Amino acid sequence: MSLRAVIAGVGSALPARRVDNAELAKQLDTTDEWIVERTGIRTRYIAGDDETTGTLATEAARRALDHAGIAASEIDLIVLATATPDQTFPATATKVQTALGIDDCVAFDVAAVCSGFLYALTVADSMIRSGGAKAALVIGAETFSRILDWEDRTTCVLFGDGAGAVVLAAEEGGTAGILATKLHADGRHNQLLYVDGGPSTTGTVGKLRMKGREVFRHAVLNLASVMGEVLDLAGLETADVDWVVPHQANARILDATAKKLGLSPDKVVLTVDRHANTSAASVPLALDVAVKDGRVKRGDIVVLEAMGGGFTWGAAVLRY
Ligand code: UT7
Repeated sequence: MSLRAVIAGVGSALPARRVDNAELAKQLDTTDEWIVERTGIRTRYIAGDDETTGTLATEAARRALDHAGIAASEIDLIVLATATPDQTFPATATKVQTALGIDDCVAFDVAAVCSGFLYALTVADSMIRSGGAKAALVIGAETFSRILDWEDRTTCVLFGDGAGAVVLAAEEGGTAGILATKLHADGRHNQLLYVDGGPSTTGTVGKLRMKGREVFRHAVLNLASVMGEVLDLAGLETADVDWVVPHQANARILDATAKKLGLSPDKVVLTVDRHANTSAASVPLALDVAVKDGRVKRGDIVVLEAMGGGFTWGAAVLRY
């Protein structure tokens, strides 16, 4: 019998303040029409002064624990993916741990930007399958609003804040759980999507910079290819897939990737219209929406995928 990491519960959290395109158009040279046509984004959520990556992550984690019916005290591993931690250190995962009242567990952050959740999920899956953890919280949480240049219309309209979480539980035998994961990174593309600051260089937090058109081209190629790879690893075909829950960067990327794979757009969960790009939070946020509205059901084959700064990209296939 082999150990598998099964998704026992999902949860998410959004800041209280929702901002639509019309509100952004009041202070920027942009329009609702341009944003919707080029990206599919209509609204995003922006964190207030009392909301941080840590508070959003904690709320998402609480909801995932409730959904799983698992007590916080049973969690022995927290992996939190973020590029916008509350502090440079300690890890935001340890803030979530304390807020949940967990006295002792393994807790650390993973930095792989928009692919962060896939990286975190892969690490947690490996630890569970090797017997190093029994119940894990895997969280993607971001407050990208704090690293945006609000005068740069080419980037600031694209991103939002939020958090999503899953509880992974070790199960012996059975058919559910994570079937395969595949990760990649290629640092040669660092300058296409980056933050122009950091503790060891400028001593500042910095602002996000992106050459969108180039990132778009790489995203479609890399995402279609890594989804093919992960399905091969699991011995599955595109026709076996019930749902794809992709990183939500741009509705046109989702359409182009689905087309490249020969996948019906009806099988792709889309939340970029309401959340915008929430980086590491986007996949677990979208998964939570699709589970709670009844689309993703127990037994479904689900592919998760993401691509982001680095570049980093990856995919996972699971039976929910
Ligand atoms: O999460 C990590 C991964 N990130 C992504 O995957 C993002 C990938 N890239 C994209 O989603 C798209 O490339 C963007 C949405 C960023 C841009 O769409 P595009 O169709 O590639 O537009 P573009 O960058 O080629 O710009 C077209 C025009 C430009 O004007 P000119 O030079 O043609 O006169 C821009 O200045 O649109 C202009 N523009 C805007 N106009 C109104 C750029 N941003 C805006 C804006 N409002 N907000």
